Amino acid sequence: MTLRIQPYQSSFYGDLVNFKLAEDQLQYTATPYDCLMIRKVELLEGKYPTVFSEDERAVGFFVLDISQDKMALTTNKNSILLRSLSIDSIYQGKGLGTKLMKMLPGYVKDVFTGIDEIVLCVNFGNRRALKIYEDTGYIDTGRVIEGPKGPQHVLHYPLV
Ligand SMILES: CC(C)(COP(=O)(O)OP(=O)(O)OC[C@H]1O[C@@H](n2cnc3c(N)ncnc32)[C@H](O)[C@@H]1OP(=O)(O)O)[C@@H](O)C(=O)NCCC(=O)NCCS
Repeated sequence: MTLRIQPYQSSFYGDLVNFKLAEDQLQYTATPYDCLMIRKVELLEGKYPTVFSEDERAVGFFVLDISQDKMALTTNKNSILLRSLSIDSIYQGKGLGTKLMKMLPGYVKDVFTGIDEIVLCVNFGNRRALKIYEDTGYIDTGRVIEGPKGPQHVLHYPLV
């Protein structure tokens, strides 16, 4: 089984638009369909749609964002924001989200020059996501921001 993080390319489109998330998870993230088809993130400056693949099949999706949006979470201009993370529901609970979060710092260091911190936010109610972030070394900054679905913890991972 080969797990990879790689930039989104259209060959993954079929896997991604068929992603399913449980109804109660939809409040916590934008789906790949929303990101690619509605928001058209790949056309937006500073936003990098990214795929987590298992043997070249997309099992996870997220956006890495170096635009000004991150400044709502941090004062660090050299940070990168992880957003819209999801693992397709049929692949959830198998440890893939945990593996992805462990691989992410290395990927960011390899691909983005001059970035020294990953930042992200997670809804208070999203215990599952919070657990994998904390288990993989992402640190709660203690900062809280108000999101569309209520308060969110701000976490970070310094890239040293
Ligand atoms: C959050 C998400 C990415 C995790 O991916 P995953 O592949 O299922 O994660 P893993 O299998 O690596 O780990 C899940 C862990 O959460 C635990 N877990 C499951 N449900 C849980 C719950 N309700 N509360 C707390 N922990 C829970 C599991 O026991 C497991 O921990 P363990 O490894 O110690 O047993 C995935 O569930 C997802 O896509 N959720 C919907 C979108 C979302 O919330 N994105 C994050 C936005 S910040």
